[in-house]
Amino acid sequence: MILNQTAAALAAVAAFSTLAMASSAPAPEPFGRTADGTPVEVYTLTNSRGVKLRAMTYGAIVLSLDVPDKKGAVADVTLGYKTLAEYEKASPYFGAIVGRFGNRIAGGQFSLDGSTYKLANNNTPGGKPCSLHGGNKGFDKVVWKAEGLKGDGSQGVRFRYLSKDGEEGYPGNLQVSVTYWLNENSEWRVEYEATTDKATPVNLTQHAYFNLKGEGSGDILGHTLQIAASKFTPVNEGMIPTGEMRSVEGTALDFRNARTVGDRVNSKEEQMTLGGGYDHNFVLDNQSGSLASAAFVFEPASGRTLEVSTTEPGIQFYCGNFLDGTLSGKSGKKYEHRNGFCLESQHFPDSPNHSEFPSSILRPGKTLRNTTVFKFGVK
Ligand code: GLA
Repeated sequence: MILNQTAAALAAVAAFSTLAMASSAPAPEPFGRTADGTPVEVYTLTNSRGVKLRAMTYGAIVLSLDVPDKKGAVADVTLGYKTLAEYEKASPYFGAIVGRFGNRIAGGQFSLDGSTYKLANNNTPGGKPCSLHGGNKGFDKVVWKAEGLKGDGSQGVRFRYLSKDGEEGYPGNLQVSVTYWLNENSEWRVEYEATTDKATPVNLTQHAYFNLKGEGSGDILGHTLQIAASKFTPVNEGMIPTGEMRSVEGTALDFRNARTVGDRVNSKEEQMTLGGGYDHNFVLDNQSGSLASAAFVFEPASGRTLEVSTTEPGIQFYCGNFLDGTLSGKSGKKYEHRNGFCLESQHFPDSPNHSEFPSSILRPGKTLRNTTVFKFGVK
């Protein structure tokens, strides 16, 4: 009886402190210094349902995302490292904001308003050079400014970064802000804003790797996936879109009805061998620019679900084909082939070189505004 009362009292204190935390703006805590001595801070967002998101100012990287399963047991569902030094050393964009231009630009080059711009060719799929995820030092490798925010029933953190004219070869001073919110519906909301003083391509995305069983607990092939896309953009041997928007009908990329990732991941179809598995941009059925459901993931053992909604026209489904056991994660476990997946809401890869794709060009006087929501649940 006394024990029960003590337990009840402790539970009440815990519930109160969670509420107290949720009703205030998160404060920064030190997370270390980069190799060049810049201090990096971490912000922790919580809700009363046991969800906790930690994000740092280096790369606006989500360090961990704790989510309860159907029995209430909490696991960190994002891949990543424990220390800043490991992120600086080698990270395949774990949890980061990718920019100025997410995904590939063919030959590291594009023309805009009569000028040609050259970017770093930091990736060579199939021996073909291209610029990937913003170049050598993209937005995932810079230290952002940040402030904690308090919303109505939510906590947030706003990251800001000024990407200077000419940085990584891109034109224009680009002011970027990315805000993460966590609310009582267990929605992690990502709001993007950007303005520029010269026309420039912009394609910002969140590159979290998820494993709804928990990071470090094996592959993600048993997760079921549904994507609200009737078309995708096929790629060539350099993983650059050909320009076609092809029907998913009859292909391994047909996720209009839920099925497991593993079901056809090893298909010998040309697109699947070129991608080394799933690594494709889906043309979402919603092209209106307003927020709509884009993908739904379910992991049967834990019962965890993830719904991704976005205002963006595309989503890159990447199933961790380049993970090969070389990197060990925050709990010391090796990240092997396909141990995590990404759902990167975006404009289409290489769109600066494809006038037939939705334009990714931001012009002075306009404000880019996009939103993506990752909603966690159980079933
Ligand atoms: C994206 C790309 C992949 C790969 C990863 C990072 O998802 O589409 O090909 O480059 O990022 O490893």
